[in-house]
Amino acid sequence: MPDRLWTVKEYPFHPEKLRYYETIFTIGNGYLGTRGSLEERYDGDSPATMIHGVFDHAPEMSVPELVNAPDWTDIRLTVDGTPFQMVTKSSSTLKPPQGLILGYERKLHMDTGLLRRVVLFRAATGATVRVTFERFASLDDQHVMAQRVLITAIDGAPVIELEAALNGDVSNNGVRHWHKLATSATTEQIALSAVTGQSGYAVGMAAVVNAPQPVTPHADPVRPAARLRVALAKDGSFTCDKITAIYTSRDTADAPSAAATKASAAAALGYDALYAAHVAAWRHTWDALDIEIEGDEAAQHGVRFTTYHVVIAAPRHDDDVSIGAKTLSGVGYKGHVFWDTELFMLPPFTLTMPPIARNMLMYRYKRLPGARQKARDNGYEGAMFPWESTDTGLETTPQWSDPLPPDNQRIRIWTGDNEQHISTDIAYAVLQYWRWTGDDAFLLNYGAEIVLDTAVFWGSRVEERHGRYELHNQIGPDEYHENISNSVFVNRMVVWHLEQALHLLDWLQQHAPHTAQRLHESLGLTPARLARWQDIIARMYLPFDDTRQIHVQFDGFFDLEYIPVRHYEPRVGGIWGFLGHERALQSQVIKQADVVMLMALLGEAVGPRQVLLNNWDTYYPRCDHGSSLSPAMHTWVAARLGLDDEAYYLFTHAAAIDLEDNKGNVVDGIHGAASGGLWQAVVFGFCGLHLTEAGPALAPRLPAHWRSVSFNVVYRGETRRFTARH
Ligand code: BGC
Repeated sequence: MPDRLWTVKEYPFHPEKLRYYETIFTIGNGYLGTRGSLEERYDGDSPATMIHGVFDHAPEMSVPELVNAPDWTDIRLTVDGTPFQMVTKSSSTLKPPQGLILGYERKLHMDTGLLRRVVLFRAATGATVRVTFERFASLDDQHVMAQRVLITAIDGAPVIELEAALNGDVSNNGVRHWHKLATSATTEQIALSAVTGQSGYAVGMAAVVNAPQPVTPHADPVRPAARLRVALAKDGSFTCDKITAIYTSRDTADAPSAAATKASAAAALGYDALYAAHVAAWRHTWDALDIEIEGDEAAQHGVRFTTYHVVIAAPRHDDDVSIGAKTLSGVGYKGHVFWDTELFMLPPFTLTMPPIARNMLMYRYKRLPGARQKARDNGYEGAMFPWESTDTGLETTPQWSDPLPPDNQRIRIWTGDNEQHISTDIAYAVLQYWRWTGDDAFLLNYGAEIVLDTAVFWGSRVEERHGRYELHNQIGPDEYHENISNSVFVNRMVVWHLEQALHLLDWLQQHAPHTAQRLHESLGLTPARLARWQDIIARMYLPFDDTRQIHVQFDGFFDLEYIPVRHYEPRVGGIWGFLGHERALQSQVIKQADVVMLMALLGEAVGPRQVLLNNWDTYYPRCDHGSSLSPAMHTWVAARLGLDDEAYYLFTHAAAIDLEDNKGNVVDGIHGAASGGLWQAVVFGFCGLHLTEAGPALAPRLPAHWRSVSFNVVYRGETRRFTARH
């Protein structure tokens, strides 16, 4: 495959896009993610390493957040005394003695999870060197991070000074979470440990520098370093490797010792051996997950890029963590886990690397106590999952926004109270996992309990009014409309959920009566309760306009102000931003796929094809895709409805969300749901992959210029390769 389909490149250097590239060039291994910040640091950059599961609630914050870990990538250089800095002729903010960048290229190698930067640098003395920086987070051993610096004299014979450090001077946008910082530096290792203030998680980091000559340790209370001074011969070169190991108290009782031992062992193996094992793990991963698209290089590249980013965030060896909305690539959404995981990021793993999907479902299983507490606190039964979830499993959605321009007003955030469909989204993911994998053990021991206890919640949540069942004070996927009545998405998904719960009970009764018995008893699945579920299924109100033959998004939707969304093109971001919160709430502008999302999830079960088309014609023009979750779901549905032009247009939009920063906020992190959604748009949308009695099958509806799409899925333990053609 040509290199350009497996790489993302920055060339030339764009100092004004520092933070964009930091996000785009994030590397990771499912244990941590590290933004692509330049080793030597700049004003305005935002380096971050996010380790799964390490949350902390700082006193000045309203909610806990995933903590930015100490920085393992820090390396500084001087060439003949000139600090190595990315000074181009147009960006001379530095004081003399200055160097100059003569050449530059940075590439993320998605096939191997390697970030490489090559710089031609001329020192103030005129000596010129080529400096190559490489880094990877080992996919083979998740505690090992490796960096290599290769310096070659191009002109002259300069003296190089190199300082490789671990840097404890980090924060989440100014909020400091690390306390009890301890550091050490010897000729063998530098090390750093710290503990989060409220949650008490410890991190231990240790790094060994392998270089042609011994290093000089530099003790520092915050930034221990190893230093090196090399006089390069003319045309000479040298290589320096920094191997860092990282553990937290989530992994082991003594994280600093584990890091010290691992760093020594990994450094003894050496960079090349570590890299070889890492590449082998990546090859295995791409064999499982890659989608090959023939006939459209941009599409191929876009899908690989988004797949890469969900892969590097997906927990491989930990079933107590899950992926936050911005993956591990930034501090956006505070690392919190939303429905983005179950309905957007998880399905690619369910279908290709089920053990990873299982880890993330176990994360939810282990948080059933928190979900039960939320239900109780709100006066309901069963399990009510939080809209935003962290390590505790308790609701962690902030109640108020950060101050918003222009007048620094905070607005009340209702999603934590009323965006309740999350419980059904999780049940959907559990059942999808079970159907594809046939993992009965998971279902019997964990999954069924999730599906059934969330069904118990809905049984207690619905309201009997007007001789039918209704749901008030809800928020559907379209978050521009808060605290609404009878969201068709929510009501229909609840019906689906209860139907599935009853089927599941029948299945358990037949195939695992002991489990059925246990769950009947522990969850209180009395005949009266099951009869009520039946009744809800029969009498749930699903808003429908008989005249127009469409589903009505919620009660009163069409009484709101109609705003022609298309007139507001071209624009960056949602219409909400310029309409203002209040007016958006009172308008028919939709933030994201809502009725359309329902059609993606339930397909033709939602209604006859003509109704689905009517729904599309009604809601698509009203949607401003203010959420990045939207275009991929629209692609999926448009492809299924045979709306080829719309499907392809929306696909290109979805594929560009991060690469072209078309939401304008990539600096906060990768849009994980959009990324996982894109994989699904291709597989479920264009290729029409679906399950039949006989197993998986395709119903392709490819864009006209695509020749084929090939991918693997694992169905009940067996890998099957599919190729979709016209
Ligand atoms: C979207 C939600 C999503 C959240 C996190 C919001 O803007 O409307 O659907 O869960 O972002 O990505």
